[in-house]
Amino acid sequence: MYSTTLHDADLERNVIERMGASWDTRVAVRQERLDLTQYYDPAIPDFPATMVPFWDDPEFAALDQPLKLRFLAAAWVAYNEKAIYLEDEIVQPLCSLLLKNRLPGVADPRVKQVLAQVQVDEQFHILMCLDVCNSARERHGLFGYEMPEPLVGTQLKRKLAAISDEREAAILRLAFASVAEMSINAYLNLVASDMSIQPLNRINTDMHRRDESAHSMAFRQIVASCFKALDAQGQEQFRRHIRAALDDFTTPDHGSWASILAFLDIPGREALLARLDTATRAKRLSRDYTVLSSLFAEIGLEDALT
Ligand SMILES: [Fe+2]
Ligand SMILES: [Fe+2]
Repeated sequence: MYSTTLHDADLERNVIERMGASWDTRVAVRQERLDLTQYYDPAIPDFPATMVPFWDDPEFAALDQPLKLRFLAAAWVAYNEKAIYLEDEIVQPLCSLLLKNRLPGVADPRVKQVLAQVQVDEQFHILMCLDVCNSARERHGLFGYEMPEPLVGTQLKRKLAAISDEREAAILRLAFASVAEMSINAYLNLVASDMSIQPLNRINTDMHRRDESAHSMAFRQIVASCFKALDAQGQEQFRRHIRAALDDFTTPDHGSWASILAFLDIPGREALLARLDTATRAKRLSRDYTVLSSLFAEIGLEDALT
């Protein structure tokens, strides 16, 4: 069921082979754990203020500093919970399907090895994110805060519910996981390269980012191999679903901001959110899709990112 000796994958072998061979020394799960009790300066924000879309809104800017720091700590929790969600609901389920050969082109033992390595990495990232969330919740008294399900997740579930064919459901999951794995790197880089936040938060995110940079290269190969092995109908479904997935991933999602504003009982939040909606209506989030666009060039979807 899981292990095969079928060499059906169409890969640039070096990429997958190198990745499989370097795993032991390369990945976060094989490094020493960060001590989250160390080096915390209460005056330094947990999360970059530049990533809060209404940071300069005059009403928000007028809030006092301790409340703003607490807001940024909650934003750090939401950011990590979103990462956990992508791993747990989008990437892991797809890896599990591929490991069981539910889609073609991935039965090569080297592919299976890398898939299992990615699963170990992702499970470790969930632990890393969970630990930093708990640490921030303790420091800032955020235990009652609950982040709502991300829009991208509700969209995936809505689409899955409308599909009865098992293979098409797997193709839909492949499309969503492709966008996640080939763009999470950029999502993490925003924080991993920010020098204004708690150093441990930056280092933690950078460890995750390094793993994801390898994952995006591996996924680029694995998804291309799978796509080439699909029949014409499957390829068409993948093209359609990845277009829609891209749309869902770049639609502004203010759910977590709304939940933090409500949890901290920030005055004037309805008006603040209304101003944010107006400012972002018809806008798309910009992400670095370099790896994804090279995949699109290969599968004839060059126009999907324009
Ligand atoms: Fe990850
Ligand atoms: Fe990943």
